[in-house]
Amino acid sequence: MRKYISPISLCFLFLLSSIWLALPQLSSARGPEILRYEDTGDEPAVLFSHDSHMASGLNCGDCHYSIFQKRKGDADTDREMTMKALDEGKYCGKCHNGDHGFSTKENCGRCHIK
Ligand code: HEC
Ligand code: HEC
Ligand code: HEC
Repeated sequence: MRKYISPISLCFLFLLSSIWLALPQLSSARGPEILRYEDTGDEPAVLFSHDSHMASGLNCGDCHYSIFQKRKGDADTDREMTMKALDEGKYCGKCHNGDHGFSTKENCGRCHIK
């Protein structure tokens, strides 16, 4: 009978514990499912769903990091994310221009939900 822990089982233990430690980070990798934008004046707040965007066949790289950083509110620093900016093809408007996604010049209620 061997009385020591073999290097291989040590490696195995180490692997297991690092996977365990990484789990919370992995599961929160996509951030909250619904992001809410409330700087909308008299309009209802805007809801953004990661899930429904992923379901329409997009990849993380379609938005991160060319359009959005992985930090809620970053795009709206200094209130940059206005309807004017969107209508000019920035932020959500990069896709929501009537070609790739529904246009921001109508469909107000599809984004301004509550
Ligand atoms: C693709 C989604 C989308 C559509 C469609 C959309 N909006 Fe917005 N709207 C936003 C986002 C995102 C913001 C920024 C909210 C924030 O920064 O908190 C915003 C902000 C606003 C604001 C406040 C800021 C500003 O620019 O004055 C108003 C008012 C507004 N929208 C009106 C409208 C109207 C009216 C329509 C339809 C003609 C419309 N929106 C269509 C996403 C959308
Ligand atoms: C259609 C565009 C789009 C796609 C695709 C997308 N994201 Fe995001 N993501 C956003 C937006 C918008 C924000 C908020 C950015 C802001 O407010 O400036 C965001 C924020 C995040 C955040 C930060 C959340 C927080 O609370 O700060 C993480 C993490 C994230 N995304 C991960 C991912 C991962 C992982 C994928 C792929 C599975 C992905 N995103 C795909 C648009 C997208
Ligand atoms: C990389 C392209 C891209 C960006 C950026 C993007 N969208 Fe979309 N979005 C799409 C596509 C594609 C669809 C599905 C097709 C359609 O409905 O026009 C969609 C669908 C939606 C829908 C309907 C489905 C749902 O979630 O209920 C909403 C609402 C929406 N987007 C809001 C936003 C908002 C708000 C932003 C900015 C914070 C944004 N999108 C940024 C591509 C994008």
